[in-house]
Amino acid sequence: MPGINGLELVRQIHEFAPDLPCIVITGFGSPESSVEALKAGAYWYLEKPFDQGHLDVVRRLVEQAIEHGRLKSENRLLQGQLQSRYRFENIIGSSSALRSVLETVSKVALTESTVLITGESGTGKELVARAIHFNSKRADKMFVTVNCGAIPEELLESELFGHVRGAFTNAVANREGRFSVAHEGTIFLDEIGDMSSTLQVKLLRVLQDRTFEPVGSSKTQSVDVRVIAATNQDLEDAIAERRFREDLFYRLNVIPIVVPPLRERQDDIPLLAQHFLDIANEGRGNETVEFSDEVIERMTSFGWPGNVRELENLVERLVTLCSAPEIVASDLPKSLQVSSPPPPTAPQIPPQGLSFRDVVDQFESDLILQALEITHGNKNRAAQLIRMNRTTMLEKMKKKGVKFDGTSRDSIDTDGSAPTRDAGPETGDIPDPQRSH
Ligand SMILES: Nc1ncnc2c1ncn2[C@@H]1O[C@H](COP(=O)(O)OP(=O)(O)O)[C@@H](O)[C@H]1O
Ligand SMILES: [Mg+2]
Repeated sequence: MPGINGLELVRQIHEFAPDLPCIVITGFGSPESSVEALKAGAYWYLEKPFDQGHLDVVRRLVEQAIEHGRLKSENRLLQGQLQSRYRFENIIGSSSALRSVLETVSKVALTESTVLITGESGTGKELVARAIHFNSKRADKMFVTVNCGAIPEELLESELFGHVRGAFTNAVANREGRFSVAHEGTIFLDEIGDMSSTLQVKLLRVLQDRTFEPVGSSKTQSVDVRVIAATNQDLEDAIAERRFREDLFYRLNVIPIVVPPLRERQDDIPLLAQHFLDIANEGRGNETVEFSDEVIERMTSFGWPGNVRELENLVERLVTLCSAPEIVASDLPKSLQVSSPPPPTAPQIPPQGLSFRDVVDQFESDLILQALEITHGNKNRAAQLIRMNRTTMLEKMKKKGVKFDGTSRDSIDTDGSAPTRDAGPETGDIPDPQRSH
C-alpha cells in the first residue's frame, strides 16, 4: 500500500463509511498495533501467515463482520425513523394551549431536568414524553416506559430495579431492571400516582442520588437516567389524602407540563380528525373516504371524555366500517349525533377572591331565567327543561327574588347585552299547547 499505512487507511474508511466493517490482516503484528487497529475502527485484526485451516475461521469472521455492519446500518435507520416519528411534526394541533406545551417541550428537551406531565387519559402525555426524549441529547439511547399502574406492586419493584437470583420464589436468574436498561437514556414512569408508598420512598432515593439496590441484593448500583413521570391524577389531592409523598412530588415536579383535555382546545379537533383520517386512508388505494362538513362540526363540539385516543379510535372505526366515499353525520355514534353544548365554565377568580355562594346563586338564577326565556315564561316547561322539580324551582325563584318579566335576563346580566325579546307575557303559567289536556 504505497502512500498510506494500514492503520491510517482503516481510520479513513471508518470515517467515510462507519458501518463498513474492516478486517485488518498484517504481516508485522504486535500486541500494540492490534490495539491501535481496533481503536482506529477495525472490526478485527489477524496476523499472517494463515494456512488452509485458518481459512474457515476467516470465512466465519467475514460473515460475522458483514452481519455486524448490516445490523449497525439497520439500527441507525430504525433509530432515525423512531426519532422522526416523535419529532414535533407528529404532534398535531394548532391551538395556543398545545403550542405552549410544545414550547415548553422544546425548552426542557435541552435540559436534564425531571419533568412531571399531568393531564386526563388520552391527551397525549406519552407522546409529549417521547418528544422530550427524542429531542434531547439522549435521543440515541433508550426511552424506557414503565406503567406503574398496570404492574402489581410486588412485581413493580423488581421491574424497576431488577432482582438477583433467589430474591423471591420465581427469581431463577438475575434480572436487570428498567432503570438499568434506561442507563444514559430516559425512563418514563407512567401513572406515577398509582405507585405504592414503599416504592415511592425508593423512587425518591433514585431521584436524589441516582442509586438503588436490586431486589435481594445489597450492592448499590448507580444509573445515569433522565426521569419523566406522568399521571392523570391530581397529585396535590393525593398528597392531601396521604396517598402520595409530598417530598417525592417536589422532586418530580421540577418542570410541570399540563396537557389540556381535548375539549379545551377545540381548534385541534379538525386537524387531528384529518390526521387520523389520512392515516386510516393509507393503503386504501382508490377507496379513500372523507368527512362531511357536518361530521367535522359534530366532532368539534363533542366533549371527548377519552380525549385524543377516543377520537383516534373513532376515526379508525368509522373508516373501517364505512364504504361510501363520504362519512356523514348519521354514521356517527349516538353520542355525537346531537351536538352537545360546551360544558359551562366557572368565572375566573379575581386576585381579591370572590364569594362562592354569590357566584353559585347567580349561576342558578341565570339558568332559571334562561329556561323561562326559552319557554316564554312557562314555569312547568322551564322546570322540565333544566330537569328540576317545579316546586323546587319556584322556591328557588322566591328565595333569590328571581322574576321573569318577559324582558329576558338583563335584570341579572351586567354586561348590558340587549334582551332577546322586547316584550313577553307576565310571569305566570301559560298553557303549553303540547302538554295541555
Ligand atoms: N397532538 C397529537 N397529535 C397526534 N396524535 C396524538 C396527539 N395527542 C395524542 N395523540 C395520540 O393519541 C393517543 C393517546 O396518546 P397518549 O400519549 O398515549 O395519551 P396519554 O399518555 O395522555 O394517555 C396516542 O395514539 C397518540 O399518538
Ligand atoms: Mg398514557
